[in-house]
Amino acid sequence: MTDVGLGTWNIGGDWGDVSAEEGRETIRSALDAGVDFIDTADVYGDGFSEQRIAEVLDERGVRDEVTVATKAGRRLDPHTADRYNYDNLSEHVDRSREYLGTETLELLQLHCPPTDAYYQPETFDALSRLQDEGKVAHCGVSVERVEEALKAIEYPEIETVQIIFNMFRQRPAERFFEEAKRRDIGVIVRVPLASGLLTGKLSRDMEFPENDHRNFNIEGEAFDRGETFAGLPVDAGFDAVDELREHVPERMTMAQMALRWILDHDAVSTVIPGSTSPDHVRANAAVSEMAPLSNQVHGAVRDIYEEYVFEDVHHRW
Ligand SMILES: NC(=O)c1ccc[n+]([C@@H]2O[C@H](COP(=O)([O-])OP(=O)(O)OC[C@H]3O[C@@H](n4cnc5c(N)ncnc54)[C@H](OP(=O)(O)O)[C@@H]3O)[C@@H](O)[C@H]2O)c1
Repeated sequence: MTDVGLGTWNIGGDWGDVSAEEGRETIRSALDAGVDFIDTADVYGDGFSEQRIAEVLDERGVRDEVTVATKAGRRLDPHTADRYNYDNLSEHVDRSREYLGTETLELLQLHCPPTDAYYQPETFDALSRLQDEGKVAHCGVSVERVEEALKAIEYPEIETVQIIFNMFRQRPAERFFEEAKRRDIGVIVRVPLASGLLTGKLSRDMEFPENDHRNFNIEGEAFDRGETFAGLPVDAGFDAVDELREHVPERMTMAQMALRWILDHDAVSTVIPGSTSPDHVRANAAVSEMAPLSNQVHGAVRDIYEEYVFEDVHHRW
């Protein structure tokens, strides 16, 4: 698996309008750049993202060469822990199998379930049963909090954890990565660019479309606040980004520096930046071959985190 994958939340959901062809073009550009890991979820555009992935894999005839990870759970309404049971998950898995056009989902991740679900062995028994039935090959969880990750990997069914980790979200490295390595758990890093903040390309007066979560979820109105700008209040985020600018190595963009910073942590299996721009997808994939950042840059990033980010973020997730 390549260490830079592709996230596809913005193909069909919560990031403004993206057409089917734009979505397919993004996926094609990722495959052309050598990406062989794609993250999606049943709720991204209510299946829109899964369907676009299936179309491109078929068009290219590369189903066996690409791992697609999807997620289930967020279609539950109400979204409560007790509803993470076999009957519900099985129904959702069946729709993903249909949309992705596959008998067996390669990797099924529980999609940020409520914390109580991690203390409910029945949920994980359900995953085991789906594996026995051949509907799912491997299982993982996408978590909000570090402690949820630590709990989830107590269950033998769980082989991967998807977690937010970036220059503005450093706690997973302190509390979780060693344990993940010890247990040989795959670590999939999401929101690596803090929803675009860490590209250095956003400006303070920028306005986002109504159907973009960077407009409608700033205070966590629709889902966990931490999924938008990594949970950092935007003004503090822009102050930190201004400080980071002077540490971006030559021949790298800030987005590439942000991705390289993540890959410099050896517990990370893959990072899944989201994009709808083929140019960005190519630039992101190229980070795989770039040299690690210097200790000096790592030190500067830590200092900036402590000064601008720690208080608002560190203990919240
Ligand atoms: N609960 C969950 O399980 C969950 C939650 C959130 C995310 N995810 C997964 O993680 C993936 C990544 O997270 P995310 O999409 O929320 O945030 P992200 O990857 O941190 O940021 C995405 C933003 O960065 C921009 N971008 C990407 N590469 C760029 C580059 N090289 N230069 C400039 N801008 C660039 C994109 O704009 P352009 O389109 O212009 O490139 C987009 O606005 C998602 O797609 C999804 O697969 C999962």
